[in-house]
Amino acid sequence: MLKIGVLASGRGSNFQAIIDEIEAGRIPAKIEILIVDNPEAYAIERAKKHGIPYLYVNPKEFKSKDAFYERIRDELLSRGVELVILAGFMRIVKKPMLDAFPNRIMNIHPALLPSFPGLHGQKQAVDYGVRISGCTVHFVDEGVDSGPIIIQAAVPVHPDDTEDSLSERILKLEHKIFPEAIRLFAEGRLKVEGRKVKILDYKLPDKYFTNPEIGQ
Ligand code: GRF
Repeated sequence: MLKIGVLASGRGSNFQAIIDEIEAGRIPAKIEILIVDNPEAYAIERAKKHGIPYLYVNPKEFKSKDAFYERIRDELLSRGVELVILAGFMRIVKKPMLDAFPNRIMNIHPALLPSFPGLHGQKQAVDYGVRISGCTVHFVDEGVDSGPIIIQAAVPVHPDDTEDSLSERILKLEHKIFPEAIRLFAEGRLKVEGRKVKILDYKLPDKYFTNPEIGQ
């Protein structure tokens, strides 16, 4: 069983999707802890409901960003965590975490990277006028949404889309590809070579491309 630690800042719908897949027996993993940087994060309610330990780490209590991440790192290591999941964690992860978990931190971003990194990926896509957007699961490196890409999924952008309507369409696919990427990792099927991720014995399902059912 792969030991997972999840970091979140808010709603936690991706966290929930991962919990559901694990509980359904489709990912050979266990969530050891949820760590939040926001005491109001709804993700906490989800952890409580599923008997997952959680911890609030207040960034304001630390002298530096590194000290904040050292605290989180130590908590994760003390619980034997092997893979860290950023499930809507609204901060840039710093060196103490990256050094402790090289190619072992996964993030989901609501755009087709390398387009529209950073905040509000969905709004950036709507404002730019692209016809297709989507989501990306990637390993985390020192940059902003710049690490090796594991899985992407695409959705159409409609002329009358708003940030909210596009976000909703993308979110449905986030909930599919994030657990999928974790499953592949847990099964030992992800191999990072430079900035590329090889997936052993895998065919990307057609459903992860523009899907009229989801798009309309
Ligand atoms: C998602 O859109 C994710 O792509 C981004 O933050 C949002 C988190 O949503 N990184 P939730 O907290 O998982 O519901």
